[in-house]
Amino acid sequence: MNQLITGGAGFIGANYLYYLAEQNTKDKIVCLDSLTYAGNLHTIDSLIKEDKITFVKGDITDRALVDKVLTEHQIDVIVHFAAESHVDRSIEDASAFLNTNILGTHVLLEAGRQHGISRFHQVSTDEVYGDLPLDRPDLLFTEETPIHTSSPYSASKASADLLVLAYFRTFRFPVTISRCSNNYGPYQFPEKLIPLMIANALADKKLPVYGKGENVRDWLHVRDHCRAIAMIVNDGKVGEVYNIGGHNERSNIQIVQTILQSLGKDESLIEYVTDRKGHDLRYAIDASKIGKELGWKPEIYFDEGIVSTIKWYLDNKPWWEEIVSGEYQAYYAKMYGGRS
Ligand code: NAD
Ligand code: DAU
Repeated sequence: MNQLITGGAGFIGANYLYYLAEQNTKDKIVCLDSLTYAGNLHTIDSLIKEDKITFVKGDITDRALVDKVLTEHQIDVIVHFAAESHVDRSIEDASAFLNTNILGTHVLLEAGRQHGISRFHQVSTDEVYGDLPLDRPDLLFTEETPIHTSSPYSASKASADLLVLAYFRTFRFPVTISRCSNNYGPYQFPEKLIPLMIANALADKKLPVYGKGENVRDWLHVRDHCRAIAMIVNDGKVGEVYNIGGHNERSNIQIVQTILQSLGKDESLIEYVTDRKGHDLRYAIDASKIGKELGWKPEIYFDEGIVSTIKWYLDNKPWWEEIVSGEYQAYYAKMYGGRS
């Protein structure tokens, strides 16, 4: 099989490429990524050098390019990670989100359909379900939970999911969708909660916690997410949606405290700042369907996963220091300046 992985220079896509390489897959793996601010070729350097993957720099909205890649590499399977992924950026300006997440997904669907590929997997998010109340721990997102989005990011992902399902219903195009909760692990861009807090704590900078820090996320190690995606691509039923989650709910303040403790830093670094607009209160996933149908369950306990992740950021300072010393400075000043 020949697989096209979109967005493989980003956080989860890159971890997926490493996961495939470790499985010694015989498949030919092609990565298509336009290298936005979130894409980083250094992350997958070794895979390119060792000929484990073929890298193509390009935009998923470019139909001619997508056609060329599908033809030249005789692609059978598309695993689609590429997206604008940061909620805060979507609140500032949604246009790139609509373009990549909706129109880009449509280009891949249409090109994939015309080339007769055998599987299209859409990597989606639990954010399409909106949020849950803080005081109802009994409520979880199932695959039947209605789509009810909050941010321009989640609206764009939900739109893409609806298009994917429309291609199944209308054309019997062989799709699957996974909707995962918050990931953490190596190579996450430092605009996201966990790497941002690690980087700030190491620099003795303030740790900006939105609102009261009581919002809850259901954290899953990226490796467990990648393993779940591979299972769905190989054995998932076409036309189906699979939730993926860690049964590991933590409030943001708990996460920040864990990071501070682990790094031996003082809680006085915490700064409560103006809340995110439309901030989703709680995400919590019911992942029983993928458990029952495909036998997946998380393997990495959060208490171990967070320690190894913090260690990874300590051991790989050049990777993220290069990012935070560049145009990220302007982003940080824009997003956090005047917020306290
Ligand atoms: P990321 O922002 O780290 O990486 C996105 C990658 O896509 C980058 O390499 C970027 O260069 C590439 N890209 C963006 N626009 C592109 C375009 N038009 N053409 C080609 N490449 C483009 O994102 P991530 O956190 O790795 O998320 C990957 C996917 O997983 C996304 O679809 C996201 O919605 C989904 N997801 C993320 C999480 C999470 O916790 N991070 C959880 C559930 C689902
Ligand atoms: O649930 C899956 C989603 O998880 C993915 O679809 C998104 O691509 C991914 O970015 C993530 O979205 P979140 O908005 O939950 O992640 P983020 O890391 O931006 O924020 C996590 C929580 O931490 C959220 O409640 C906001 C809060 N936060 C975040 C930042 C960056 C802070 O309090 N301070 C911060 O500086």
